[in-house]
Amino acid sequence: MINYIFKDVLSGCATSRPPVWLMRQAGRVLPSYKDLKKNKSFSELMNNPQSVCDVTLLPVADLDVDAAILFSDILIVPEALGMKLNFLDSKPVFDNPLMNCNFPSSQLKPDVSHFDFVYRAIDSIKQKSSVPLIGFCGAPFTVMSYMFQGVSTKTDFSDFIKFIYRDTRAVIKVLQLVEEVSIDYVTNQVRHGIDAFQLFDTYAGLIPNDLYFEIFYPSVCRILNAVRTMGVKTIYFPKGFGHGIARITPDCTDYLSIDWLTDIYEARRIVHRDIAIQGNMDPRILYADKPRIEREVLKYKQFAQENPSWIFNLGHGLLPDLPYENVKYLVNLIKYIDWNK
Ligand code: CP3
Repeated sequence: MINYIFKDVLSGCATSRPPVWLMRQAGRVLPSYKDLKKNKSFSELMNNPQSVCDVTLLPVADLDVDAAILFSDILIVPEALGMKLNFLDSKPVFDNPLMNCNFPSSQLKPDVSHFDFVYRAIDSIKQKSSVPLIGFCGAPFTVMSYMFQGVSTKTDFSDFIKFIYRDTRAVIKVLQLVEEVSIDYVTNQVRHGIDAFQLFDTYAGLIPNDLYFEIFYPSVCRILNAVRTMGVKTIYFPKGFGHGIARITPDCTDYLSIDWLTDIYEARRIVHRDIAIQGNMDPRILYADKPRIEREVLKYKQFAQENPSWIFNLGHGLLPDLPYENVKYLVNLIKYIDWNK
């Protein structure tokens, strides 16, 4: 049964337990998703509005999470900028990485009509279910890491980082285009009815906080505020950011999603008190046995009592080979233990 706990927490109402959803819940571990993948590739599923709608709602049916996240990918923004994306062995690859170009921004041809099928998918999801829907896009740094580097096998993105230092102006020109197209995309997600929005910056920790704040953070704030000014709450996930989370201000986001590296109590101590927190259980704990999983969840009990706005989530996405029954067990635990809130 659909409940209101996710929306209640976002709007500051008291609840008896924290809401729960899991990053990368759409796809990955679900047996029902693995069945679909027997006949269709990830790209086929992701580019068809009907299957986007179906896969988005699978974790709600199978895991009974409190919110759905749109089944899509952050690399749809480079596609709308004219870059050709392929998934080889489930890994994203771009045909012409920007690091090989002298004038990278001149390679990009924005066409926001590329996103239309996503809006049709959102319309179908909203028609079919009243579960809160989380929209998302990638933050410019992570998206541009793929655009410049081209492949995801080199996840230190060293060539992109070299490029930032060697030709900052060229990088900023690309950043402006990525921001512009992302803002168009996220504001249309809001128009089509998303209930919350998450910005994924998986690689934010690969560069010094100072460089990130100088070049990328203003763009992050503009994207998040485009959503917030339309009345939808935002969650920002700068993974591996370390002490940088202390420098994020409440004029940028409503929530911060904390990764598994940072202790949640320490995060609460250093994050601005007007920013709420989501996170941060290490997804790999789900390889452990059930008593261990329960012990790890109970560590959050006091945190939940002290932080009524907290949303339970993982410190990064679900991994494809995590035992499904443990994921299901985790969601049940969150829903049925006594949080004493
Ligand atoms: O959270 C969700 O379930 C919503 C859907 C979602 C996907 N990708 C579907 C997907 C979201 C939010 C993303 C974000 C994303 N995509 C990120 C940032 C978040 C993170 O967890 O780090 C990044 C870096 C990408 C780029 C990407 N897409 C990679 C590196 C890969 C291949 C490796 C992997 O993680 O599986 C993808 C493919 C992808 N995106 C899959 C799914 C369900 C797997 C496709 C398959 O079924 O084979």
